[in-house]
Amino acid sequence: MEVVIVADVASGASQVAHVVADLVSRQPGAVLGLATGSSVEPVYADLARRHRSGELSFGTVRAFLLDEYIGLPDGHPASYRQVITRQVVGPLGMSPEQVMAPDSMSGDIGPACRSYDEQIAAAGGIDLQLLGIGTDGHIGFNEPGSSLGSRTRVKTLTDRTRVDNARFFGGQVASVPRHVMTQGVATILQARHLILTAWGTGKADAVAACVEGPITASVPASALQMHPHATVVLDPDAATGLLRRSYYEEVFAAKPAWQGL
Ligand code: GLP
Repeated sequence: MEVVIVADVASGASQVAHVVADLVSRQPGAVLGLATGSSVEPVYADLARRHRSGELSFGTVRAFLLDEYIGLPDGHPASYRQVITRQVVGPLGMSPEQVMAPDSMSGDIGPACRSYDEQIAAAGGIDLQLLGIGTDGHIGFNEPGSSLGSRTRVKTLTDRTRVDNARFFGGQVASVPRHVMTQGVATILQARHLILTAWGTGKADAVAACVEGPITASVPASALQMHPHATVVLDPDAATGLLRRSYYEEVFAAKPAWQGL
């Protein structure tokens, strides 16, 4: 796992966007895994800027959403499909058909979950998966206790996550769905490169547990320690709980520029 502590959110977002841009320019049919939330929003904004400047085309990229709420009416502005349409599909000049999402409206949710993993596999797997981290250490919507071998399935949100996400529902916790469909931890680990971004002191404990704690289902993000190419990009506030912080900074400062992230 590589830990990169950046000067600020804008610099971190730019470095992650550079990785995406580099992948897409080398491999125009790349498959991206898209998270939703404030951790990845600045990355999408940076990519949109690059697309507007003509630097980058996403015309042949495919993408898979990481997770989705269950029970929101079609077109609800807080549904992850809608968020990605606003932040990625439109700004990056993609068509909605390029982006797959868990079929959380399916009346037959079990097969719909299995089918999502099959669709990812049929696309050749995810080349680059962007991730945020929940304050309780979740990735996707894999709440603490999620099997590290889990596949796409239905999960029940913790009260803490519903409170955290109420800001996307006009501050109304009661409006945040209880159930979600999420790529499993093992599904996420199959992506060829994982980049997790975290900003702010509110994420510091979860980041420390993810990076330096034991690998445990109690902190699903700790499964990133088992991945051969996982990159954790943090602003200084999100890095405050790390014991080996100065070591990560020393390693990154000494890294040859050609290696990239
Ligand atoms: C949400 C999403 C995750 C996201 C995380 C952090 O519940 N399901 O994919 O990474 O929690 O969200 P944010 O980036 O808004 O802090």
